[in-house]
Amino acid sequence: MLDLLRPVVVAPMAGGPSTPELVDAADRAGAFGFLAAGYKTPEAVEAEIRATSSPYGLNLFVPMPPLADPGAVERYREVLRPEADRYEVELPPVRLTDDDHFAAKVELAVTHRVPLVSFTFGVPPRDVVRALRAAGSAVLITVTSGDEARQALTVEPDGLIAQGGGAGGHSSTFSPAAYRGDRSAADVLAEVRAVTDRPVVAAGGSTPALLAAGAVAVQSGTAFLLADEAGTRPAQRAVMLLGGSLSGGSLSGGSLSGKSLSAGSRQTVVTRAFTGQPARALRNRFVDTYSPLAPVGYPAIHHLTAPIRAAAAARDDASALNLWAGVGHAAARPGPVAALIDALNDR
Ligand SMILES: Cc1cc2nc3c(=O)[nH]c(=O)nc-3n(C[C@H](O)[C@H](O)[C@H](O)COP(=O)(O)O)c2cc1C
Repeated sequence: MLDLLRPVVVAPMAGGPSTPELVDAADRAGAFGFLAAGYKTPEAVEAEIRATSSPYGLNLFVPMPPLADPGAVERYREVLRPEADRYEVELPPVRLTDDDHFAAKVELAVTHRVPLVSFTFGVPPRDVVRALRAAGSAVLITVTSGDEARQALTVEPDGLIAQGGGAGGHSSTFSPAAYRGDRSAADVLAEVRAVTDRPVVAAGGSTPALLAAGAVAVQSGTAFLLADEAGTRPAQRAVMLLGGSLSGGSLSGGSLSGKSLSAGSRQTVVTRAFTGQPARALRNRFVDTYSPLAPVGYPAIHHLTAPIRAAAAARDDASALNLWAGVGHAAARPGPVAALIDALNDR
């Protein structure tokens, strides 16, 4: 695995940004890239695997345990009614479980002998780790604390990903109710390294600093959201490019309705409002309104808000989109991934 990894890892980014083009361009530029299997059908994942020509990683979501309080999801459904009216969508019936085709995606990874497989949202079953390693894959599990690292080590992965609180997108935390996202990547890395001699990839902080602190590689996502090769939504690109300057008005002549982005849109916060799992996102109207009300509950909340997010995306309305981004989002620049990798090494 150490031979495969490069110091700069382009993070898996489910929901559009990760593409085979991004992975291949990262490889040509001396970095290592991940495909994101989350939310996709197994067929779509296989198509991406076939379209990738360089060594690559594949990231899978570990199915979440059943919810402690299904009633809270029903109550949140009622809270979201004004949003459904606003976007003229029906809120779907509550759907408590969805394993994201876990078994089929593991099978794909085994069949295609995916060089590196990473997991987020929990510890995969030991059998799965064994099967992948027997097929020749190296296995990484994402953790956010030393305690989670200990749990992950019980299934004997090749290494761990230590995700700091400033990381963009979902936290992999196994304790979503208590998660605040307030621990630095350096602190999480140190805590994880204290419980294992296995290689640890860091995520959610400065590449040179985390490499100096002992990470074998640093996985970054936000810095690549504006890459030419990324599949990031136009509305998110526009917000990230224009950020605070959007406050109070729409883009002149543009398609983005930025009316409801506040001046604070340049801040990120950890929110469960969109999916029920804590995730770091740029603030917008939806985040500000619903974060205090959203219960723990991935994937139930993800399914509940999906039609609202889809309708907002169709209208290029960033006020109800999940604009995943890390604390370093203001440094993200557009351009070819090769140039962005160079910039990252200097930060
Ligand atoms: C838009 C976006 C989507 C993400 N999707 C995933 C994912 O599907 N799987 C995963 O393990 N991590 C995902 N992450 C988290 C990254 O793996 C990584 O922890 C994070 O990007 C590091 O922080 P940074 O974004 O500040 O670089 C995502 C991050 C972003 C910004």
